[in-house]
Amino acid sequence: MTLKEVDSTNTFLKNILSNSKPVPDGTVIMAERQFAGRGQRNNTWHAEPGKNLTFSILLRPSFLSASQQFYLTCAVSMGVYDALYPLLRDSLKIKWPNDIYFDDSKLGGMLIENILQGSQIKHSVIGIGLNVNQEVFAPDAVNATSIKKILQKDYELKNILAEICNHIEGYYLHLKAGRLEFVRNMYLSRLYWLNEVRQFKSNGHIFEGTIINVKENGLLVVKQQNGEQEYNLKEIEFLNK
Ligand code: BTN
Repeated sequence: MTLKEVDSTNTFLKNILSNSKPVPDGTVIMAERQFAGRGQRNNTWHAEPGKNLTFSILLRPSFLSASQQFYLTCAVSMGVYDALYPLLRDSLKIKWPNDIYFDDSKLGGMLIENILQGSQIKHSVIGIGLNVNQEVFAPDAVNATSIKKILQKDYELKNILAEICNHIEGYYLHLKAGRLEFVRNMYLSRLYWLNEVRQFKSNGHIFEGTIINVKENGLLVVKQQNGEQEYNLKEIEFLNK
């Protein structure tokens, strides 16, 4: 379903779910314009209307427990990655936990909101924002890029959407068949800054370290002079030179 305008496709999907209307698995809600798009860490998500992909997918991964949520992040990130790979090749990376990067610039991101029931995932609302044909970004979005900025060509949003959904389905089926570690390993192999000595910031402290793993629970493992440390999303920042 395509909406001309909505606050946020994630919020819209969550609302129809809580109104207990039956929503089929795999429902995709796309918006031409979001006026209250949400990003990670309580950020807002800005995208020029009509030029970008902003959509949400509903899945019911009842075969995953709440403690396995990170595998869904891997599957969705890899789905987006594989859909874009034929266009963007090896400069494409996944920045932990789930940003899509081209070299050192952000091309897109996702906001996965899981609704739990006991220890199982009842619904997963997977919101994806991808910069496609936008050429000018707000001055505070310093590292934002788009496919148009990279390839100097306009792309049909619906075609890219279809590719992304197909690839996500493929990875979702891997998860369903129990191939969780295969999916996490694919994700790891595409990770931005994996095995590179880089600068990070945590607790106001700047240090050099190397990302060596992302654990089953989604924690980032960074090797430093004084050993290995694990971080969750709000605990570490990547410092680009
Ligand atoms: C991020 O990188 O911070 C995540 C951005 C996620 C944006 C998408 S756009 C479609 C869906 N609806 C929202 O309100 N957010 C997600």
